[in-house]
Order: sequence, then structure tokens, then C-alpha cells
Amino acid sequence: MARRKYVVGNWKMNGLAAAMGEAEAIFAAAKGHAAVDVAICPPFTLIGAMAAAQPGAAVGGQDCHSAASGAYTGSVAAPMLADAGATLVIVGHSERREGCGESDADVQAKAEAALGAGLSVILCVGEPREVRESGGAIDYVLAQVAGSVPADFGADRLAIAYEPIWAIGTGLVPTVADVEAMHGAIRDALAARFNDKAQAMRILYGGSVNGENAAELLGAADVDGALVGGASLTAGKFVPIVAAAAALG
Ligand code: PGA
Repeated sequence: MARRKYVVGNWKMNGLAAAMGEAEAIFAAAKGHAAVDVAICPPFTLIGAMAAAQPGAAVGGQDCHSAASGAYTGSVAAPMLADAGATLVIVGHSERREGCGESDADVQAKAEAALGAGLSVILCVGEPREVRESGGAIDYVLAQVAGSVPADFGADRLAIAYEPIWAIGTGLVPTVADVEAMHGAIRDALAARFNDKAQAMRILYGGSVNGENAAELLGAADVDGALVGGASLTAGKFVPIVAAAAALG
């Protein structure tokens, strides 16, 4: 099945109002690559302004709380993201699983909250370096998939992002063979649980994607797009990744 390529920028804790021009340039360039779905997930503080400035563009959050409202100082709920103009949200990023102690059950609850608020979800999984080195990466990631993917969702509303933790922000990337083995294993696990729906779901790769390696990574079997951190902060670095995805169709 042909799945549309999906290239998502995760700005992490980067971006003041002055960065809005980069988003404008990215979304303008994306219009020239209509076969690719492009999204930017800026910090919470820019979501409302970015969504308002870019009608029809996909702007997302980087996290949400699992509750719709309540006494959770500093947290942002999924309906608030939707209210601000977001159409998607990242959940389960390793910087939150590891840095904020989020469990698979927490990530699943966040994904369910996001879907319930009408948002699309990018659900992240990925192994630490020692797990990769011990040969247990696939088992580790499949356990995350089993524990954090919700039971019920539309195939076009939930994408998985495989992001090996040791590849994030390090310039290291797995071999194409390792990426294909992992993405294939994730697809097989999704098929075992969700049958035909698994063929329509997108599985993104993330971790040190840049303009130089995007074509090779995005061209790998079962890689349907990229979740990009550092190289998504400027149009100069991000647009070549979008163009590489477009060239692959
Ligand atoms: P990176 O980050 O592209 O800077 O490695 C990817 C991510 O954490 O989503």
C-alpha cells in the first residue's frame, strides 16, 4: 500500500517569536511538495501564533497531559492544543519517557487523550544504547509498542516514530538494514494486533536525520517519513529533507 510520506519537525525547547519566519519559509516550501505531509511541533508558546499565521498548515504539540483539565500546574491538555490550533501532538518522546519518567501506560493515556481531542498522534518508541548493543532492541521496542499504542484509532490518526535514543542529537544513525529490520518488526506487530490497518499506518524514523542522509533513510523499506529535531529548526536544513521525501513519492 502506498503511504504518503510524513516529515515532522520537533523543535523541542527551541524557538522564540523570531523563529516564526523559519516556519513560514518551511510551510511555503512544503506547498511545492504536495505529495509530502509536513508538520512542525514548536514549543507550546508558539503554537497559537504559528497556527494562526499558517492556515491549513499542520502545527502540533510535543506533549500533552492525559487529563482534559485539572490541577496539574505547568501541564497542557490535549483539548487546549486543539483549541490553540494544533492538529497533532507527539507523545512518548524519549526525552519525556526518560527525563520525566513516563511509562508506556502514561504514553498510552496521553495518546488516547489526544485522539479524543481530535488530534493526530505521533507516538515515539526507541531503545537506549546498551539495549542496542546487547542485541535486544527489537524486543524492547515491540514491548513499548504493545504497551503504549492505544486499542482504537483511525490508521491515518496515529503514526509511530522509531527513534533510537543513541541516535538522537548525536549524528549517529543506525544502518539501513537495522532501520528496515526494526520498522518491519513494528509493522508485523501492528498487523498481528490490528490486521489490515497496519498497512495504512505510517512508521517514521527519527534520530540525526539531515539533508544528507534523508534520501537513504526515507527510501528504506517501511520508512514512511521522518521525525526531525535539530535539522528542523531552519528552513535551510529542513526543506532539503522534505524535498528528499518528495523525490521518493
Ligand atoms: P534529532 O532529534 O533530529 O536532533 O536527532 C530527533 C528527535 O528527537 O525527534
